Amino acid sequence: MSEENLIITIVGGGSTYTPGIIQAILKSKKVFPVKEIRLYDNDQERNHDMFLIIQLLLTTNQMQAVTLVETVDPEIAFKGADFIFSQIRVGGLAMREQDEKIPLKYGLVGQETCGVGGFAYGLRSLGGLLTIVEDIQQHAPNAWILNYTNPESIISEGIRRAFPNINMLNACDMTISIEETIALNYGYDRKNWISTYYGLNHFGWYRSIYDNSLGRDVMPEIIKKIQTTYLRVADFNKGDEAWQAAFEMMSVMVRNFPDYLPNNYLEYYLYPDMIVEEADVNYTRANMVMEGREKKTKRMAAAIKAGETRNVLDFNFGEHGQYIVDMAVSILKDQRRRFMLLLPNRGSIPNLRSDAVVEIPAYVGATGPEAISLEPINDFHKGLMEAQVAAEKLLVDAFFEGSYQKALQAFTLNQTVPSARIAKQVLDEMMIANGDYWPKLR
Ligand code: NAD
Ligand code: G6P
Ligand code: MN
Repeated sequence: MSEENLIITIVGGGSTYTPGIIQAILKSKKVFPVKEIRLYDNDQERNHDMFLIIQLLLTTNQMQAVTLVETVDPEIAFKGADFIFSQIRVGGLAMREQDEKIPLKYGLVGQETCGVGGFAYGLRSLGGLLTIVEDIQQHAPNAWILNYTNPESIISEGIRRAFPNINMLNACDMTISIEETIALNYGYDRKNWISTYYGLNHFGWYRSIYDNSLGRDVMPEIIKKIQTTYLRVADFNKGDEAWQAAFEMMSVMVRNFPDYLPNNYLEYYLYPDMIVEEADVNYTRANMVMEGREKKTKRMAAAIKAGETRNVLDFNFGEHGQYIVDMAVSILKDQRRRFMLLLPNRGSIPNLRSDAVVEIPAYVGATGPEAISLEPINDFHKGLMEAQVAAEKLLVDAFFEGSYQKALQAFTLNQTVPSARIAKQVLDEMMIANGDYWPKLR
């Protein structure tokens, strides 16, 4: 890999998150000198809209010298690429809507990555990403893949089975987003934090948050604050009622379980009844995103097509893009900085099965991630995680073996599901709704 003149590919170029990643690349240009950015998507129209937006973003930042490519051809996308950022959504937001609405009809949590909605998404997403990884192995075998594509637990487990030695980091922005939100609410500087967190994706806890400017673990005082005051969403989620509600649920969780700071996504596993009660089966998160982020992106592209160049660009993604670009820089410059990553456990959590994919801190350098070793975890967290790991593994088995029985076991074991009867009903309806997006289950 050259340290100059990098070639970067964004898979899912048409994703609404692309501008945030490009902004982070531009911000990092001193340590991450890019000569070419390629947008790759299987939806030419979405990709072209984003091409126009990114072109204007480059011009506005006096970065026209960077070559910008849009393509639907994997060879053009990957040949010679150094870093590949992946963020696809197989089936688009229309299928996300199904993942959310079908379970709700049966009184179950309907969510993008959690519960059976996340499992339905997993069975779609894994096939899409496996093809991409195969293409990358063919055209750019030495490139690093930095993946945000969800559901991260299923993707990490599935890709690792097919490509055990691949240069790939799987990451989630949620821990950074939780930390950013907490820091902004209570006046800390997150940059001073060394966080120790463990779990599965969207299913974990902070053990400590050491603030090196204060010289102490600030997690206990943060928990006390969250118990008594609701966290307000940070600027990048401003006005987003769904995220405000999610952060408010953190207060409920730390009042009931005050020893560790939870990932907000645990609300779906610990309080599925509350979540279902508050949900509107006719208008879910997918609808909000279609009305919000997606429409906004289309409006920006339309304005550019109409010849407008001023005050067109309008986005704020918080640390999402910077977090993953920082990982790329840490590899490129062998910085060995610490990130939360999805990795095979291999003893990092000593009392959890070693072949689980866990989300834990790791130091990232030129040779990839090196995970830290943690203390044994308590029975409450261990019990919850063990059931979830088994469910996720069964789902990935179902994918590779085309096994209906394994899929049914996975759905039944999912902790948002109270009965095998309902698991089967939802699975059967989802199988029809997903059609060829899913492997054939027999
Ligand atoms: P989106 O639908 O707006 O964008 C996804 C893009 O991927 C679309 O343009 C689509 O055409 C394209 N695509 C779909 N299948 C493809 C394929 N096989 N090959 C190439 N391109 C393909 O979705 P979004 O809301 O921007 O989210 C994108 C992805 O990022 C999702 O998987 C989402 O869950 C994930 N995400 C993950 C994190 C995280 O914490 N890991 C954070 C944010 C978003
Ligand atoms: C967070 C999570 C992602 C998830 C996203 C959904 O960033 O870490 O994994 O995809 O939220 O956000 P949305 O606005 O699409 O509901
Ligand atoms: Mn995530």
